[in-house]
Parts: sequence; structure tokens; C-alpha cells
Amino acid sequence: MSKLSQRHLLGIKDITREDIELIFETADNFKEVINRPIKKVPSLRDVTIANVFFENSTRTRLSFELAEKRLSADVVNFSASGSSVKKGETLLDTVNNILAMKVDMVVMRHASAGAPHFLSKHIKANIVNAGDGTHEHPTQALLDAFSIREQLGGVGGKKIAIIGDILHSRVALSNIFALKKLGAEVMVCGPATLIPKFISTLGVQVELDVAKALEWCDVANVLRIQLERQQLKYFPSLREYSLYYGISKKTLDNLKKKIVLMHPGPINRGVELTSDAADSPHSIILDQVENGVAVRMAVLYLLAGATN
Ligand code: CP
Repeated sequence: MSKLSQRHLLGIKDITREDIELIFETADNFKEVINRPIKKVPSLRDVTIANVFFENSTRTRLSFELAEKRLSADVVNFSASGSSVKKGETLLDTVNNILAMKVDMVVMRHASAGAPHFLSKHIKANIVNAGDGTHEHPTQALLDAFSIREQLGGVGGKKIAIIGDILHSRVALSNIFALKKLGAEVMVCGPATLIPKFISTLGVQVELDVAKALEWCDVANVLRIQLERQQLKYFPSLREYSLYYGISKKTLDNLKKKIVLMHPGPINRGVELTSDAADSPHSIILDQVENGVAVRMAVLYLLAGATN
């Protein structure tokens, strides 16, 4: 079996183009498996995986759990709310206690950037970053790029616009790393206050006008306004954001060409996307969710192979 270059998946920054292609080829096989009447394979039998979530999640958490169960792994779930974290237990103590119960892999979401990197230096289990603060969300970027490849036959040379709150988005950063490694042209678009100053050093174009970004791109990956991470006011009101940056089905229908509409979820309906855009034939939002299970199966399977 081919192997990944890393024993953890902490970020897309750390992995190679060959790693990404290997994950996609493996996910192609798992996508076929999860569409069969019998959706389970014994690949991770006797492997125990802990999903350790210190921050809210719907898609990522369910998707990892399903991926693990489809691979026949034993699964334990931990969420910070209702745990001894509330009594003051540290991250390292929490995870070491979970590992003492003979856990092989830890899938972790945490509000602090770098939390999974810290853990990887202190524990033996494989770590998968399921989102760390405003830093990286590697499996989201992998499933996004996998979905683009599926829709357009490849990622290299395609024009991808990432639109919205780039400043607070771990999805944006991981997507930029993945798409650039795969040879795509990448543009970020949003209000100037929501675009970090350093972003052009990553080799992406910056566009403040969403109409121009939509005319330019083959794929629009629209991001949520992350109100929970915004201590300051970056724009006057959600209504004004929606007026200038919100995308409707009519906007998409009126473009000179067909583009693919993506969103990592959760959607703020009526803010970055109208409901008729999110549910339109342009949208592949639920295909992204379906692909997330196959891509996460591939990541877990390959990481388990890296240590066995
Ligand atoms: N896309 C994403 O990470 O969604 P959740 O926060 O629901 O996991």
C-alpha cells in the first residue's frame, strides 16, 4: 500500500501534492463502497478512534464518525461541554486520559490554532486536525478539492474564487494550500476588512467586487460570516453585507457561463447565499457533504497504514 508522507494530518501546508492525489485515489474507491448496499469494509477493525471536539460541529463530527464506522473502527466520542474540561482539566490531561483507554487515533477540533500540533508533540496516537481556530481545516479542503475534481474532471488550471470572511476562515487557508498544490488559480473576494494583509504572499489574487469574482471563476466557494469569531465590527450590518456580497440564484443565472457553487456549511441563509442559490442546480453543497465521508475514510485508512 502507498503511504502518506506524514503520520498525522495537521494541515494541508504540511502534506505534498502526491499525498493529496493518493488521498483522492483512495477516496474514489471508498466513494464506491459507501454507495453499495453493504457500506462497510473491515479495513480498520481493531483500531480505536476518539473524536475529541472542543468546539461545535455538525458535518465534520458526523462525517468522521460515519467514516470510522464504515471502516469498522471502534469509535468513542468526546465533547468538551459536559466533560471534566469544565472542571479545569487541561487539553493534554484530557487527551492522555482518553489515550490511557488504548486509543490509536485522535480526531480533534479545537478553538485554538495549533492545538493539534501541540498534541502531536506529546502523544503517540495519530492526530487528525478537524479544525483548529482560524488556522486550518484540512479534511474540509480535501473534500472541497475532491468535489471540484469530480465536477470539472480535475483541479489543475481551474479558477476558484473563495468568497466571504477570509480573515476568520480556516477553510479558506486550507483550501488555498490544497488548490495551489494541485495547480489551480485561486482568488479571494470579500470586503477589504475581511481579507488578511498577508494573503497575496500565498500566490492568490484579491478582488473586492463579487460580480467580477463570479465572472472570473469556474467555481465559487462561498464562506460563512463567522460572527462568533469577530470581536470588532468588520462591516456595518449583515443586511449591508448581504446587499454587496450575498449571492442569489438570479446572480448565478445571469452569468455568461455556468459556474459551480460550493459552501462548506453551516450556511447563513439570506446572508452570504440566498436559499434559492443554496438549493439551486448550481449548488453542489450536499455533494461536498457526501464526499466528506469518502475523503475522511481515505485519510483515516492511509494514516492507520502509516503506523501499522
Ligand atoms: N464545514 C464544517 O466544518 O462544518 P461543521 O462546523 O458543522 O463541522
